Amino acid sequence: MSGLSVAIRRKAFSGAGVLGEIVFTLAPGERAALIGPSGVGKSTLLSLIAGFGGEFDGRVGRPPGRVAMVFQTPRLLPWRTLAENVALPPGSGGMDRARALLAEMGLADAADLHPERVSLGMQRRAALARALAVEPSLLILDEPLVSLDPEGAAAMRRLLVAVLDRTGATALISTHDRREALALADRVLELGGRPARLTGDRPSPLDRKARRDPEAVEAAHRRLFAEGG
Ligand SMILES: Nc1ncnc2c1ncn2[C@@H]1O[C@H](COP(=O)(O)OP(=O)(O)OP(=O)(O)O)[C@@H](O)[C@H]1O
Ligand SMILES: [Mg+2]
Repeated sequence: MSGLSVAIRRKAFSGAGVLGEIVFTLAPGERAALIGPSGVGKSTLLSLIAGFGGEFDGRVGRPPGRVAMVFQTPRLLPWRTLAENVALPPGSGGMDRARALLAEMGLADAADLHPERVSLGMQRRAALARALAVEPSLLILDEPLVSLDPEGAAAMRRLLVAVLDRTGATALISTHDRREALALADRVLELGGRPARLTGDRPSPLDRKARRDPEAVEAAHRRLFAEGG
């Protein structure tokens, strides 16, 4: 049994091919980063895998259980508080569990605020709490660390790793930052070209403990991506 099996042949918007042949599987509990330049098709691929992407040629085999996706923009309902947003998905366990999850994300004091009253980083954490509320077996995260300041990104990364350690979910996480990929994932998938296909599939040289060390991440980045960037 696999955690996720992806066999996409083609995805087009208005006849223009965006994704070409993309085939890979993730083992249960495996964490993969999806890297590639802006506009290459990362969000498109993640949405297809999550089941939100509309029509495409190919197939996606998802693991038993729930699938949750955290979108690139947090997509919280503006007229509901953070706790109400987290309690919204069917099967999320209601307001008490929403508050507990928000507290785990460092948002205990913000639970009753509306999204517009909190920072982007806090909205991101609330969106992550909402995804976790359904206890997904597959967690899809679209650029969870983008446009956060370095401290906010580091805190969010630690939180993400802790959540993945605790839940054991299979995870697919897009980023355009290769260092983030190495700090988060067991495996780094790279998208390139148009229509996009997999141009790289590398196991991380760092085990889960080693990748908590920023210097180890930096050294691995130099070894793997010698051309810089
Ligand atoms: N709904 C849509 N209709 C038409 N074209 C789309 C749609 N969604 C995405 N595209 C196009 O598909 C391509 C891939 O977009 P996508 O958002 O998947 O890239 P990305 O790798 O996630 O980029 P970024 O790193 O900036 O988030 C782009 O050329 C984009 O304009
Ligand atoms: Mg994107």
